[in-house]
Amino acid sequence: MTIKHESQKIAQHFYTFAVLLFLVQVLVGIIAAVQFIWPDFFILNFNTIRTLHINALVVWLLVGFMGATYYVVSEESETELWSLPLAKFQFWATVVTITTVVLGYIIMGLYPQANILVFGTRLLNEGREYIEAPRWADVLIVISVLLFLLNCAMTVLKTKKWTGIQGVLLGGLVFLALMYLPGMMYAKSMVKDQFWWWWVVHLWVEGAWEIIAGALLAFMLMKTIGAKREVVEKWMYVEVGLVLFTGILGTGHHYYWIGTPEYWLWVGGIFSSLEPIPLLLMVWNAFRTTRETRNVENKVGLYYTVANAIFNFVGAGLWGIIHTLPQVNKWTHGTQITTAHGHLAFYGAYVLLVMAMIYVTLPAIRGVKEFNPSRAFQSFWWMTISMVFIVLTITGAGMVQTYMERLMGLDYVAVKANYNLWFWIFRAIFGVGFLIGVGIFVVDYFKLGKEPATARA
Ligand code: HEM
Ligand code: HEM
Ligand SMILES: [Fe+2]
Repeated sequence: MTIKHESQKIAQHFYTFAVLLFLVQVLVGIIAAVQFIWPDFFILNFNTIRTLHINALVVWLLVGFMGATYYVVSEESETELWSLPLAKFQFWATVVTITTVVLGYIIMGLYPQANILVFGTRLLNEGREYIEAPRWADVLIVISVLLFLLNCAMTVLKTKKWTGIQGVLLGGLVFLALMYLPGMMYAKSMVKDQFWWWWVVHLWVEGAWEIIAGALLAFMLMKTIGAKREVVEKWMYVEVGLVLFTGILGTGHHYYWIGTPEYWLWVGGIFSSLEPIPLLLMVWNAFRTTRETRNVENKVGLYYTVANAIFNFVGAGLWGIIHTLPQVNKWTHGTQITTAHGHLAFYGAYVLLVMAMIYVTLPAIRGVKEFNPSRAFQSFWWMTISMVFIVLTITGAGMVQTYMERLMGLDYVAVKANYNLWFWIFRAIFGVGFLIGVGIFVVDYFKLGKEPATARA
């Protein structure tokens, strides 16, 4: 396994930063879990820790997508990137911005009064869940993403080799960039503010990102098992078409109770219930293509690719559909059922996607012929089993919460502090299992292809 173009190595910069942020995300996740049991644990409060946990998640996935895209665009256009120095600059600019934002969250956690008003916007934290970065950072992020898209577009234009995969991939990324903008609009009415905010959050994970996932799935099936381009691209168009058809109006499942007109109950309920269909097609696509192959060179890459398709369907599709109808969501809205789904969906659809892309492309970047797959499999099972149990645990907590709080009318804190305590304890324990898996992955990431041949054998 080797790369065809030297500039594809830039992907590794992005992967490394992503992997380190992943570690941070999970470490703070465990702190958050312990704070459910002892609210005073740690110098930073739960709200700061939670912000760090979910923002780090979103950012490392985006950084991972960028690295993977540079790799794919160069490969598909059959040429070097338009400008490697620009890609490097864009990488370091991203690292500096994100690190500053993270430090800002921590400073604000220690001294809340530091989040002063500057030109009508907040200096350290803007306060919109998942995209709390302050306005000045939003602007820098937009510039960085524009430079990234420019570099990709110019690379394609160099050879004019438009493939379906890269068309869809770049289309998804443009959609992603555009959908960041509604998150920068400010409306005095909370209803309107939430209305636009959901465009970012929902149309990212159930629109743009799923399109990127569809394109990368096609790419990975080609790379790992030599699937035919015509076949995987045909599947990709169907998947992506259905993602858009169901996902755009599916946004309505967040508009049930925020003060928007009543027709959203119907629109959101119907369209979002159809969202699992394209995800099921992805699983079918992965299995159908894989059945016909022998002698896979990169078993780990294939393993993660197929697991990604499966857990995307389970986490987003199944754990999504259980609470997406307004008749159900009326009871479960904003409970631990939501949190359970959030974890399994992000893990299955996007954590495994970035990891799969790393295992598909990294051996080529490092020029390794074969590598010992045992750490990659170990980390997969530690992470996946732990995540499944975290999700089952908090699904249980969510059922108890829904029943006691919403049906019996008990107080939120009473349920949380008494009746759900054991669920929190188990979540924290499985969280440590997950961290072990991440630790094994991080070691594997840094060592892959760098050990002497005897050790590998
Ligand atoms: C990979 C794709 C997906 C990801 C990453 C994802 C993630 C999330 C997250 C993090 C939340 C919580 C948002 C908050 O903070 O309030 C959420 C909410 C929700 N998701 Fe998903 N989701 C995905 C796909 C789906 C699908 C396909 C469905 C339906 C079939 C769905 C149904 C819902 C519903 C109904 C809510 C609102 C829950 C509530 O009322 O509290 N999701 N999702
Ligand atoms: C790759 C792995 C992980 C992903 C993708 C992930 C994702 C998320 C997401 C999307 C949320 C917001 C969910 C919502 O409010 O609906 C969240 C919150 C949280 N996560 Fe994670 N997380 C991961 C790992 C962990 C681990 C290992 C722990 C520790 C056990 C953990 C503990 C928490 C806690 C305690 C919250 C706050 C929940 C709440 O507000 O009710 N997470 N995580
Ligand atoms: Fe949604």
